[in-house]
Amino acid sequence: MRSIPVTVAALCYVVVVFGVLSFSSNAELDPSFYKNTCPNVSSIVREVVRNVSKKDPRMLASLIRLHFHDCFVLGCDASILLNNTDTPTKIESEQQAAPNDNSIRGLDVVNQIKTAVEKACPGVVSCADILTLAAEISSVLGGGPDWKVPLGRRDGVTASRTLANQNLPSPFSSLDKLKSAFAAQGLNTTDLVALSGAHTFGRARCTFVTSRLYNFSNSGKPDPTLDTTYLQQLRGQCPNGGSGNNLVNFELTSPDTIDNDYYSNLKVKKGLLQSDQELFSTSGADTISIVNTFANNQDAFFANFKASMIKMGNIGVKTGKDGEVRKQCNFINKKSAELDLASVVSKESSQEAMVSSF
Ligand code: HEM
Repeated sequence: MRSIPVTVAALCYVVVVFGVLSFSSNAELDPSFYKNTCPNVSSIVREVVRNVSKKDPRMLASLIRLHFHDCFVLGCDASILLNNTDTPTKIESEQQAAPNDNSIRGLDVVNQIKTAVEKACPGVVSCADILTLAAEISSVLGGGPDWKVPLGRRDGVTASRTLANQNLPSPFSSLDKLKSAFAAQGLNTTDLVALSGAHTFGRARCTFVTSRLYNFSNSGKPDPTLDTTYLQQLRGQCPNGGSGNNLVNFELTSPDTIDNDYYSNLKVKKGLLQSDQELFSTSGADTISIVNTFANNQDAFFANFKASMIKMGNIGVKTGKDGEVRKQCNFINKKSAELDLASVVSKESSQEAMVSSF
């Protein structure tokens, strides 16, 4: 008689537990994932990033952006690192998608990290985890928050240039468009405002700014939500008809540091991109109060940045037996094998050539 309620209770438990597991995509990620297999992975990544950033402080910003551009396309699976290949499967690299082309940086740094990690723990650490760790380490080295990085992502075996063009938001987007690009990845409005705070450091090319300075929305006038002194300054850096590749700092006072100045700047109409200023200057928007909170309280910004970075790092992750751990971040393993084979064949044939020349 008693067994029926017990069975029902057990069933409910199973449903609840499995329900929770199946809804949380990061159920299998764990900060101690490499505890036994590659215990020093974080310090190895840190060493490389620290060394590179001594000579090139902008690299910290570039690495955080690389992780973002990876996660918004097929999830955080290092698809952004894959090069164009025709065999054994055709891959149209995301690196040539409009938001990445002539824009993303740090691919060589990731390869440097991967080489160092492979030396210590061959075949264990995925390129997707390297990108995620490099982003957190860049935050810390840039003066931002630290966090325990959930690990255990596997690398994808394909890339999508089409999705890179579709999913990555444009700097000319309205607030509604920005919100929907983030919502499509399971990120809410607070995530949008907190993650946009990454524009507290790094650079942008004039090509993304000039229309705001000279001909906003084809009005022949500058963007009215741009402070006039800042406008003059930017015009000096991005002359009308000048090179779109000139670089402008995202932030005036601390261009290589993570702090909450980004939000104070938005309050005085000194956001660099239209998409930045939209967060504060869209009338009646729910993002205004979040910008105010972060501008008034750096701790609140850091706490939210941390939480949103973890959330972004969990988008569409592959775990368990999904995907693979790439040997070389720019190629799926089947391609690496093909390339190894090709190099063995060419070595052998050059040896034959040497033999026959004697
Ligand atoms: C909200 C939508 C976003 C838009 C429209 C946007 C757009 C852009 C653009 C146009 C650039 C300049 C690229 C260039 O000049 O080649 C840039 C740079 C940058 N973005 Fe974003 N971004 C957004 C969100 C994010 C997020 C979520 C992050 C990271 C969490 C991020 C991190 C960065 C960083 C750090 C840079 C500077 C990179 C460097 O100096 O190499 N952005 N972004």
